[in-house]
Amino acid sequence: MIERISKLKHEISVHIISSKEELEEFRLKYLSKKGLITQLFNEFKSLAPDQKKIVGQKINELKQHAFELHSSFEVNLKSKEGYKKSIDYTLPPEPFKPGSRHPISIVRKEIFDIFSRIGFTVSEGPEIEDDWHVFSGLNFPKEHPARDMQDTFFINKDPDHLLRTHTSSVQVRVMENTSPPIRKIFPGRVFRNEAISARSHCIFHQVEGLYIDNDVSFADLKQTLLYFSKEFFGQSTQIRLRPSFFPFTEPSAELDISCSICGGSGCNVCKYTGFVEILGCGMVDPYVLEASNIDSEKYTGFAFGMGIERIAMLKYQINDIRYFFENDLRFLSQFS
Ligand code: DAH
Repeated sequence: MIERISKLKHEISVHIISSKEELEEFRLKYLSKKGLITQLFNEFKSLAPDQKKIVGQKINELKQHAFELHSSFEVNLKSKEGYKKSIDYTLPPEPFKPGSRHPISIVRKEIFDIFSRIGFTVSEGPEIEDDWHVFSGLNFPKEHPARDMQDTFFINKDPDHLLRTHTSSVQVRVMENTSPPIRKIFPGRVFRNEAISARSHCIFHQVEGLYIDNDVSFADLKQTLLYFSKEFFGQSTQIRLRPSFFPFTEPSAELDISCSICGGSGCNVCKYTGFVEILGCGMVDPYVLEASNIDSEKYTGFAFGMGIERIAMLKYQINDIRYFFENDLRFLSQFS
């Protein structure tokens, strides 16, 4: 009897069912009241008591096995049928939603377009830099806090490698390799050892601008920035230059624009001042020109640097910088 049970088990295991009818045949053949397994139970009654224990266990296992197969075939068939039913080939296709550009890419391109209309071209530099291009070549004194581990991600001390903290480093690279006139913008990612919050991030993007030629003056800087501000934020935008300090420019300034949200009348974005700061700028310090072998008696120049996230936050009224880095489609799809 044990042999018959294991033969039956094998037979059941290799059984293939591909239709409802075959499923019903399977049930009748093995599991119904007149099925082969029930027959085994009938024969079991007349066995000697010592055999009953082993044979009983085997028949129960066989029955369990047949049940499990039956229900898995049943589930399979049902899901196939459901699938067939759920496809209606006559329906129009689901609308296809193309992706969209990241807001940082949109704003970066807009900045390129504006500056390219007044003769600026684009150059890029490496994200992994050395002390000279990020600090020393830009006149940062040895004890400047930006050279501290708290502010900069250092990779190696010797040879010195660090993640650039600003795109001003590309100024130095371009000045080393190009003789004036230079009229360029440098976009790129920058890195700072800062806690991540709604206002600041350890990674962000900047665009740096550099113009070096004979007789470049602060008036040229002001006019260029006024042109950019009006083109980007609208023709009614007003600008304000406030004196500031950067080691690589003299004189230095920060540029404020009239608040694009309230138009200057005062709101919580401009903290009721009517103006918001958008960039740092100034006349390239003669020391910086000389450090890159540009004759500071012959040439003068201006430079400016802005954060793309900051500009994008103002343009689209985004109040948390972290959105730019989270790749949340609910955020990104708003820019299609
Ligand atoms: N590099 C400065 C920063 O990251 C921004 C900046 C200020 C760039 C003044 C300039 C400049 O070119 O002239 O904060």
